[in-house]
Amino acid sequence: MVTIFVCVSCRHPTDSNGGEAARPGVELADILQRRVASEAPQRAVVKRVDCLAVCERPCTVALAGPDKWTYLIGDIDPPAHAGEILSAALSFEASGNGIVPLRERPVSFRKGVIARVPPLTFEGNDQ
Ligand code: FES
Repeated sequence: MVTIFVCVSCRHPTDSNGGEAARPGVELADILQRRVASEAPQRAVVKRVDCLAVCERPCTVALAGPDKWTYLIGDIDPPAHAGEILSAALSFEASGNGIVPLRERPVSFRKGVIARVPPLTFEGNDQ
């Protein structure tokens, strides 16, 4: 199971009028929840969060799972990239440690990656 955390608080830099339309993460979370429900209900879950601390790069998501590396990704355009993010999330879920194989990383994932954080169970490369 992969958890896709979606920040629903970011505002698009060009939006100044406020309101839900100015929060692209809401649209992204809606799209992902619909697609997960129909395509991968046993493999993924979408959770809305208030902030992932990369507020200058909306939309932002994090892919996380037990004993797996966590990816933090930004600059996601909901209509254009939701399918790619879901695909990458399912590759993440299918992997043993959360490292998504390079060939399975779509462009929006490769360009948007901000951080990759090891799981608490990671013992370091010097072990
Ligand atoms: S408000 Fe979205 S990452 Fe901070």
